[in-house]
Amino acid sequence: MKPYTFAILISALSGLAGCDTASQSFSLPTGDEAQGKAVFLKYQCLACHSMTGFEDEASKLTRALDTPVVLGGEVSRIRTYPELVTSVINPSHRLAEGYDDQEIQVDGQSVMPSFNDVMTVTEMVNLVYFLESHYSLEPYPRTDYISPH
Ligand code: HEC
Repeated sequence: MKPYTFAILISALSGLAGCDTASQSFSLPTGDEAQGKAVFLKYQCLACHSMTGFEDEASKLTRALDTPVVLGGEVSRIRTYPELVTSVINPSHRLAEGYDDQEIQVDGQSVMPSFNDVMTVTEMVNLVYFLESHYSLEPYPRTDYISPH
């Protein structure tokens, strides 16, 4: 990816940070669920999160939270695809509900670390695709890219 293309993508994504209601104005390319699972494990999201089917993986990690924040399913307030993307790239945008504030935030900032400087865009696309498959989200239209020939 050319640097300027990357810059445009990042500014488009970070534009979401200012919005109260999640923007419907962007869509990531289709990801790879297996690759996304690898990203999920690589960045040790399970140190702070729980997800159905990942109990074994979680038990191998040192837990950073007493009460893990549940990912996936229908329990989350996350309802749309842009909300899910925003939760990953800007965790403090809106804090999870139903958890001990003392544990999940410090001075209004999420204790979830930013992965923005370590995760590649490809990794994020795959990660969000993987996460999305574990949520009951509102259907979201995907961008169909026409491959150059
Ligand atoms: C050090 C602990 C920690 C790590 C590591 C962590 N998170 Fe989080 N995450 C949190 C906390 C605390 C919250 C709840 C506060 C908030 O909404 O930011 C959260 C919230 C979320 C949410 C929103 C959940 C909701 O229902 O509102 C998503 C999605 C998420 N994290 C994904 C991830 C992914 C993917 C990774 C790995 C790349 C990850 N997190 C790594 C602590 C962590």
